[in-house]
Amino acid sequence: MNRIPIWFDTDLGVDDAVALLSIGKLPNLDLRGISAVAGNAELCRTFENARNVCHLAGIHVPVYPGAEHPLFVPLHTAPLVHGENGVGEVELPPSPAPKETKPAWDALYEAAKAAEGELQVIAVGPLTNLAIAFGKYPELKTLLKRILIMGGAAKGGNVTPAAEFNIYGDPHAAQMVFRAGVPVVMCGLDVTMKAYLTPAEVDEIGGRGTPVCRFFHDSNQLALKFFERITAPGLCCHDTCPVLFLSCPELFSGEEAGVYVETRGTVTLGKTVTDLWSDKQFADRHVFVVLDVDRNRFAAKVRELLLAY
Ligand code: BDR
Ligand code: CA
Repeated sequence: MNRIPIWFDTDLGVDDAVALLSIGKLPNLDLRGISAVAGNAELCRTFENARNVCHLAGIHVPVYPGAEHPLFVPLHTAPLVHGENGVGEVELPPSPAPKETKPAWDALYEAAKAAEGELQVIAVGPLTNLAIAFGKYPELKTLLKRILIMGGAAKGGNVTPAAEFNIYGDPHAAQMVFRAGVPVVMCGLDVTMKAYLTPAEVDEIGGRGTPVCRFFHDSNQLALKFFERITAPGLCCHDTCPVLFLSCPELFSGEEAGVYVETRGTVTLGKTVTDLWSDKQFADRHVFVVLDVDRNRFAAKVRELLLAY
């Protein structure tokens, strides 16, 4: 099997953990490294969470520390969904792996060079690490095959009526990544709000009782309550969307578009403006905007991957 070399950039919160656990059981993905960024929680927590989830799941991949703050806006965390510690207040056994100190952007650049143009980045937090990497290593844009993000929305927002959390978290970084010239797959709220597990499905997975299944169940209880309050049909697995898009693209559909990020708006800061339904189209149209998913097949796949632990 031809395995796809990937890099995972994450502000490891509860849905990021599901994405990472899924990567760990997908045979066609070859995880080369992980970088942590501040977002759902402070960097010190997202970095440790990524290390500890790897330890729990037996994923032996280095985790690198990235940006502590967005480029130009203050850090905005999400304790209501992810808890103060980023993993729903669950205490994970600490990873004994040696702590990497190399900055995320240097490690990513080295991995991209080693993969000789084949590396695909799955980025599921604010895009600060990637923006810093492109600023420091201009040739990185020629070394990456594709960037798959969870972020943005063609329609609406979650953290504000106009903006999705990851893009709002660092709009300037997001604009740099969209403008870098590397093909981007955007899994925004349009698709990720449809990519959910029902509370009964979450309970069923938790009932398996393995350490990973119990962690999945317990860490997502706050998030489930949050989704209930906003009348979502279940637990939205936002960050698993770009992972499964890469591994099983047949579950998804979408359209090519131009996407620009609003970096100056007051009401619209962090909005991903797409030209999907517009008469006037942007000159630069290299983003594949994912719009739909087969929910039942998505849920079945996530279940299969988590039960494999
Ligand atoms: C995104 O925001 C974060 O809270 C989640 O981890 C996900 O990446 C959803 O808007
Ligand atoms: Ca995330």
